[in-house]
Amino acid sequence: MKRRLGPRELLYPMPAVFVVSAADGEVDVMAVAWIAIAGAKPPSVMMSIRSTRKTLELIERSGEFTVNTPRADMAAQLDFTGIVSGRTVPDKLREAGLTAVPGAVVSAPIIAECPHNLECRVARMFEHGDHTVVIGEIVETHVDEAVLDESGEKPLADRIDPLVYIPTVREYRRLGEKVADAYTVGKRFIG
Ligand SMILES: Cc1cc2nc3c(=O)[nH]c(=O)nc-3n(C[C@H](O)[C@H](O)[C@H](O)COP(=O)(O)O)c2cc1C
Repeated sequence: MKRRLGPRELLYPMPAVFVVSAADGEVDVMAVAWIAIAGAKPPSVMMSIRSTRKTLELIERSGEFTVNTPRADMAAQLDFTGIVSGRTVPDKLREAGLTAVPGAVVSAPIIAECPHNLECRVARMFEHGDHTVVIGEIVETHVDEAVLDESGEKPLADRIDPLVYIPTVREYRRLGEKVADAYTVGKRFIG
């Protein structure tokens, strides 16, 4: 038996990443869970940012941002950047003990402690209800060598050990065990 809950902004699971923005010497960081890949050619991300966020203001001014994937043991730092605004705490990165280092392409820094970072340039922004949808083209990817596979080409999720966010109960979790091989296990249903 299903129960109708009405229109709710729920999806399981969600990512949990740091988005870093910078403009005119100001730098900010915030936790973002409403983010996904938007396209492959060009490689792009899409995320939804509430119009009140300082981060959105800096992205609108600079047209750039970075996406930084925390390790699971960085939950407290991620959470801090999600409950405090840069409008009241000007240097959230420093307060959280995180190190901002320059990227290669955009002016917004990347976070040294995060094993995976994307540099992004805004391709499109539009308002949708109380949020602004930001589509960013990924212009560079940085990965710690320690999380790469033996070929040196593929980041391994187990080594990144990323955070997962569970809405409603508002929990951070780790990835669980492997269930099956993607693009393979479904072949048993092909006649
Ligand atoms: C786990 C988590 C995920 C969040 N995801 C989003 C999100 O996707 N979009 C958003 O607008 N706010 C999100 N927030 C809230 C912002 O991170 C929070 O309001 C932050 O203080 C904004 O900082 P800023 O004003 O310095 O940009 C999230 C908060 C947490 C704790």
